[in-house]
Amino acid sequence: MSAAEKYLIGNWKSNKNSTDVAGFLKIFAHKCKNIKKIPLKIPKIVICPSYIHLPLSRDLIKKYNLPVELGAQNISPYGEGAFTGEVSASQLKEYVRYVIIGHSERRSNFAENEKILADKAKNALTNGLKVIYCVPDSKIPVPDGVAVIAYEPVFAIGTGKPDTPENANRTIGVIKKNYINTPVIYGGSVTSENIKSFMEKEYIDGVLPGKSSLDPISFYKMLINAAG
Ligand code: 13P
Repeated sequence: MSAAEKYLIGNWKSNKNSTDVAGFLKIFAHKCKNIKKIPLKIPKIVICPSYIHLPLSRDLIKKYNLPVELGAQNISPYGEGAFTGEVSASQLKEYVRYVIIGHSERRSNFAENEKILADKAKNALTNGLKVIYCVPDSKIPVPDGVAVIAYEPVFAIGTGKPDTPENANRTIGVIKKNYINTPVIYGGSVTSENIKSFMEKEYIDGVLPGKSSLDPISFYKMLINAAG
């Protein structure tokens, strides 16, 4: 198993209203009460709600004293200014430490190409944000300076058909040859049942669940099953 720090990063996508967010954090906080007593190595936990729920999430994480950091799911490729509808890195950094860039849903549904993604990464990095950069395979280039690379094969996203842990491990091993010292995680139909089989692989430094991160009990189970 890789000695690097492990990650459990929940991507909530366009799900939840503010009541759902508050309910998730309340239940998750209740489940986490005994976490300090658990003699396990707990991975770094990040949740990525929609932009509009970042202030609420930040306040509740503080209120419940949760071992959770916040990430955004997107970021503007531009700085602050006349860019209607965009959220700039300098605005985001008030709320989050992490930002997901290059998710395949943005590449395919919003025509985000390598140039746009590189601009997004540059803005994030110059504002001190940690970038979680998603790639669908080992051939897509990754901008310098990202904190985490997420291997997310398109066939596995939202399908209930994950890559095999063996293949994910092999692909991540190839990615790691090009990006030495950058943690690489796996995303695509990760559940509380299969999480361990990914986490225990040599090169896999964590996971990026979508659907299974939406339910607080399921997310807590993932946390416990991911702990080494
Ligand atoms: P699912 O876990 O729902 O397949 O989503 C994975 C994903 O896209 C995380 O970014």
